[in-house]
Order: sequence, then C-alpha cells, then structure tokens
Amino acid sequence: MIYSRIVGTGSFLPPKIVTNDEFAERLDTSDAWIRERTGIVQRHIADESQSSSDLALEASRRALEAAGVGAGEIDLIVLATSTPDYVFPSAACLLQAKLGIKGCPAFDVQAVCSGFVYALASADSFIRGGMYKRALVVGAEVFSRILDWNDRGTCVLFGDGAGAVVLEAAQHPGVHATVLHADGSQAGMLSVPGNVCGGRILGSPFLQMNGQGVFKYAVKVLDEVARETMAAAEMDLSQIDWLIPHQANVRILEATARKLGLPQERLVVTVDHHGNTSAASIPLALDEWVRADRIRAGHRVLMQGVGGGFTWGAALVTM
Ligand code: ACO
Repeated sequence: MIYSRIVGTGSFLPPKIVTNDEFAERLDTSDAWIRERTGIVQRHIADESQSSSDLALEASRRALEAAGVGAGEIDLIVLATSTPDYVFPSAACLLQAKLGIKGCPAFDVQAVCSGFVYALASADSFIRGGMYKRALVVGAEVFSRILDWNDRGTCVLFGDGAGAVVLEAAQHPGVHATVLHADGSQAGMLSVPGNVCGGRILGSPFLQMNGQGVFKYAVKVLDEVARETMAAAEMDLSQIDWLIPHQANVRILEATARKLGLPQERLVVTVDHHGNTSAASIPLALDEWVRADRIRAGHRVLMQGVGGGFTWGAALVTM
C-alpha cells in the first residue's frame, strides 16, 4: 500500500504589515470593532511587484529546504490560488520556471479558501495511485488585489501570503483520509463576479460576500466535514492533536472547536496576525506551528478548508 506523507513545510509573508489602526485612519471602523468581530489584529500585504507565484516561490524554497529535497526531485506541482498572476499560464507553471525546473506536471487548483485541502487531496491521490513520488503542494494568494479598499465590510478581513508542503510517497500515513465537497448553488454567497472580456472587465473585480451567511455555513460544514473525515480514517475526534481550520475569523474557529468538543488549546490560530489569506492560510498556519516546535513528528493534524464556491473539505494527517 502506498501512502503520502508531509516531509517538509515552508511559508512566506510579504514584509509590509497593515494594522487595524491604519484602516481606522481612513475608514469608518476601529481596531476594537475588527478585533472583537474577527480576532484580526494585523495582516501582511504584498507590494505591487509581488505576485502569487513570487510568494509561492519563497514558501516552496523553505519547504524544500526543510524536506532536504532539491527542486529537481519534485515530480508534481499543485498550487491552490484564486489570485493567480495571470488568466494563464497558471501560477503553478510560473512557479515551476522560477524554481528552475521543467517537465513535471504543474497546475492550479481553484477552490478559494478550500484550495489547499483540495490541492493536498489531489496530490495525495496521485501519489497513492503510484503516478508520482514527490509533490510540491502550495497555497498562495494576493487577496489584496481583489479587495475594494473602501469597503470596510470586506477589506479588513484579508491578507497576502503563501505556504507549501513537500508530500512524498511513504509506506505509512501520512495522509489518513481526505474529504472534499462543493455546493455551487451557494456561489453568490462569496464571489468576485467579474471576468475579462474584449479587453474590459465585465461585472465586478472586487470580492463580495454575505458575511453572516458565510459565518453560519462555515461553522456548519466545518463541523460536518471533521466528523466525516475522522470516520473515513476510522478514528475519533479525541485522537486529534491539532485542528487547523481555514483561518477566516477567530469566532468561526472557536465555534468550530466548541461544536466538535475539542479544547481551545488544540486549535491553531494565526488569523490574528495573518488575516484571512484564503488558500494560503492552512499551510501558513501549519508551517508556523511546525517551526515553533508545537506541531511535531507523530502529531495528528486535522486541516479543514471552507470557502467560495461554496467548497469545503478536510485532510487528516500524521506529521
Ligand atoms: N467596522 C465597523 N463596522 C463595520 C465593519 C467594520 N470593518 N464592517 C461592517 N460593519 C458594520 C456593518 O455596516 C453593520 O452596520 P449597520 O448595523 O449600521 O448596518 C454592522 O457593522 C453589523 O454588520 P454585520 O455584517 O451584521 O456584522 P457581523 O457581526 O456579522 O460581522 C463579519 C461582520 C465580521 C464580516 C462577520 O459576518 C463574519 O465574520 N462573517 C464571516 C465572513 C468571513 O469570514 N469571510 C471571509 C471569507 S469566507 C471564508 O474565508 C470562509
């Protein structure tokens, strides 16, 4: 039996930090409102010269270094993003070129904030099927590019960044189970409803959302998918060392842990200093906790994504 296993993690945050007070200087909002409703204190924002593939490159280099693997040994690249550098080619192909390699397949996954879990599940399936041996799985976003910076209801929530893992074939898991879901009938709840047509943008190039609808939907499906994934792995929730939900909002994270009956000490929270980095949020949080020596070899980690589409999913992994 072939499994896949995470053998290295890495992440990258652009250096520029934007605090809540900076929003309060120009919008009708306050540090207190943002902290109380979202738990967010600050977020990192890319400068104009930095694209998703640039952030992905830094995160990937760190993951490869941690894994002790050369870029040339990677035989699959799966990159989750909703903010690719271009309409095409994919950010994954651009990342491949920046890593100085060629030949291996490289593609983007578009599942918004569930993107990393979708990408991990895809790479896991390829490795389990024996098609590839070593995958680079990345989540990278510059969500700052699709925000209306005058809309206090959305622009305070997000940040930019990237996280990556090296996933390798192994005799033992590794990845125990992955579960993915989508419900396209909820597309309007969270969207950037624009497209490029005849040299113009048709529709809106800015993120729109029904905040309370997203909140309720997220807590419901994060609870359901955690239980479904544990059942698929034939384990129970008490066997989880760490829960890493997509870092949308600290109230969503805490409500999810409460519903699952997990102590808050097992909940990984980085949204306070990263903001919501969409597909990058889970690998960013994972890498931060690994480098802080909190998540260690042998720990069991449940990662959960939820986002636009609507999409959701989870992956149970032994590190
Ligand atoms: N500062 C001050 N006031 C604000 C701000 C702000 N930044 N944003 C909204 N408000 C106002 C609203 O205009 C409204 O004012 P009104 O009563 O005069 O109309 C008031 O605050 C209450 O607005 P609500 O939308 O009801 O506030 P709520 O308590 O629901 O909080 C929030 C809004 C934080 C967006 C919340 O609904 C939420 O967290 N939802 C989840 C959304 C999310 O996490 N999205 C991320 C993307 S999706 C994902 O990653 C899964």
